[in-house]
Amino acid sequence: MDRFILEGGRPLSGTIRVNGSKNAALPLLAAALLTDEPVTLRDVPDLADIRNMLRLLAELGCGRTNGADPHPDNPDNPDAPDAPLGDPVTLHAADESRCHARYDIVRTMRASICTLGPMIARRGKARVSMPGGCAIGDRPVDLHLRGLRALGATIALEGGDIVASAPAGGRLRGATVFLGGPFGSTVLGTANVMSAATLAEGTTIIESAACEPEVVDLAALLGKMGAEISGAGSPRIVVRGVDRLHGADHAVIPDRIEAGTFLCAAAMTRGEVTIENCPIDTLLAAVDRLEHAGVSVETLGDDPLHATCRVSAPDTLRPIEVTTQPHPGFPTDLQAQFMAMLALADGNSVITERIFPERFLHVAELGRMGASLFRAGPTVVVSGVSKLTGAQVMASDLRASACLVLAGLAAEGTTIVNRVYHLDRGYAKLEERLRPLGASIVREGESA
Ligand code: EPZ
Repeated sequence: MDRFILEGGRPLSGTIRVNGSKNAALPLLAAALLTDEPVTLRDVPDLADIRNMLRLLAELGCGRTNGADPHPDNPDNPDAPDAPLGDPVTLHAADESRCHARYDIVRTMRASICTLGPMIARRGKARVSMPGGCAIGDRPVDLHLRGLRALGATIALEGGDIVASAPAGGRLRGATVFLGGPFGSTVLGTANVMSAATLAEGTTIIESAACEPEVVDLAALLGKMGAEISGAGSPRIVVRGVDRLHGADHAVIPDRIEAGTFLCAAAMTRGEVTIENCPIDTLLAAVDRLEHAGVSVETLGDDPLHATCRVSAPDTLRPIEVTTQPHPGFPTDLQAQFMAMLALADGNSVITERIFPERFLHVAELGRMGASLFRAGPTVVVSGVSKLTGAQVMASDLRASACLVLAGLAAEGTTIVNRVYHLDRGYAKLEERLRPLGASIVREGESA
């Protein structure tokens, strides 16, 4: 398993570009299952999760028509590295007979669940392994199933699989469904139900829909494919079903969580960084918190989804309060990164996690680096310290890994972040992209 070796204490400066969004690209790729025509996506990030989704879609008869399918066990040359993903990615669901998303792929990427709605709607049936929990907590899919059942799907659980079918005759029926749960809305649940509703007979109203930018991006692609959707980005989405969808060409929105991670990196290394292709309009809650901490974020350009942002850090970070909420509130996916940054603030900050109350595996690891953290249930008091010190730490999940890399960039001395395969799920070649900013970070393979 690869690990990162970092020498910290070096302010970051220079320019870095934000990649396409992982969390937008995954449901966008699954939307190719809704048509028998090719769907082309541009700026798809080259990430482990994306490659897993492409493998799953290929197994479901929806393979790439351009570029090599990045299949790891290449029979000709098993030692060959994965071919670069290439851009764009064009998918074509040429074979609609295979509808089983198997456990051994779904267990590596729970976002596989977003193939469920498109397959039921288009193919009339689907078998998708039930995604398990993960390091950030229990990850139920009850809201997904509630929404799909409201559209007339019959859903049973058999041997750990979700076995679903459309009503006799094969077409879902539009309905009104409340999709809110104890933690608010569901992002991928909204994606599943909205996608399925595009081919249903009649009109669907999704109440308490997720408002995340990734849902808006999916609605934009579905609209290009011929779907009739209004209200995406608001808590009420209305979908008028159509008989069929056609192919489309769409560019993935930039990754707001990657952008937010870079903002934190600049702030906590007391650097000055220019971030290109920054979807600043989707980060207003995070920018509000950064500015309260004394960080300056200047936006250039006139496209708020592809802006150029210049971020500069104060000599001293002010302590703040952060509470994660569904969009447009502060994103849970930036909670760990902000904790790393606030570990160096001048005073006590309070972070409360309202989406995944157990999302704190990074707390113990930050403590090993000298952070002073006090957890009480879903809340952590971050008592700022003057410095962090390098240590060996263990990555546990995607955003906790990013948090530890940020801490290593700011800490005095050497930090080793183990199990960076967690990081590779959501950040493409991060070490190669941070080095031009002055970071001392190298990847060390298992063989070293
Ligand atoms: C998406 O996951 C993101 N993943 C997550 O990002 C992100 O943290 C999450 O949304 C919240 O913003 C992708 O888009 C691939 P949810 P999703 O359904 O859709 C509960 C990352 O780091 N819930 O919005 O699976 C759930 O337990 C990842 O990039 C139910 O109770 O999350 C949670 O408490 C991590 N029943 C809350 O809702 C359900 O049926 C929000 O979950 C579904 C969810």
